[in-house]
Amino acid sequence: MEKIGRNDPCWCGSGKKYKKCHCDIDEIIEEHSIKGEIVPPRSIIKNKAQINGIIESGKINTAVLDYVAQNIRAGVSTEDIDKWVYSKTVELGAYPAPLNYEGFPKSVCTSIDDVVCHGIPSPNVILKDGDIINVDISTIYNNYFSDASRMFCIGEVSPEKKKLVEITRQAVYLGLEQVKPWNHLGDIAQVINDLAKENGYSVVREIGGHGIGLEFHEDPWVSYVTKKGTDMLLVPGMIFTIEPMINMGTYKIIHSEEDGWTVTTADGKPSAQWEIQVLVTETGGQIISH
Ligand code: MF3
Ligand code: CO
Repeated sequence: MEKIGRNDPCWCGSGKKYKKCHCDIDEIIEEHSIKGEIVPPRSIIKNKAQINGIIESGKINTAVLDYVAQNIRAGVSTEDIDKWVYSKTVELGAYPAPLNYEGFPKSVCTSIDDVVCHGIPSPNVILKDGDIINVDISTIYNNYFSDASRMFCIGEVSPEKKKLVEITRQAVYLGLEQVKPWNHLGDIAQVINDLAKENGYSVVREIGGHGIGLEFHEDPWVSYVTKKGTDMLLVPGMIFTIEPMINMGTYKIIHSEEDGWTVTTADGKPSAQWEIQVLVTETGGQIISH
């Protein structure tokens, strides 16, 4: 890392002197780095102004999810959900990040039952009693990105699927408790994977979470199957998602060759996912969107 004088401006762009800004944090990062740990590059550590912008984006993202929560029910199509997301997001002065992202054709991902993630909304898919659905919403506001998803149980859902949904939600918030400076991404993954295994479930390995804020997907890539004490060091100013996909059966997944997006479980059993976007603060984890 580049050496900066204590009285020079901090590299984070705050305008403050280095000694009054990231100097102390950099010393601690350096100690971990010397021990051979994976430490975050400066490019993914946000300054105050960036954090404030990302928080505003996250508020809109959460509001759009709230709107979906108030209206989702049996009989609506996933295309209806897509229309709600587009119009609500634009009404709030923002833009849906998925739309045209790497060719994704819609404004939101809607993933039902054995669809693990990246389900494409369609007028032909009508929500029915007993479905579990993940609605994954991502927002661009003033060039700042936010991302969160929730599960919804439609009508009368089987106890087995309800439990999968609830355990997956608990896993995310258990993971959140591990978010604090100088912990590691693996600490989050371990508690999530442990809870899933205790319940006879498996965690998807190939798809994970991600850094986010200035871009839709930034470093780090976030696994939920790594071990406690391993993987990237958590440092104040990092922002990433906690979004494990937990399967009732095998962790193995299939990528659709037909549409290039839809991911399903290899055994056809249900999968659940909740996603929160989290900021590492000086003391813990702050939710940016949920
Ligand atoms: N929202 C998803 C995530 O959590 C990304 C979806 S990319 C899309 O990372 F193009 F499918 F929208
Ligand atoms: Co995400």
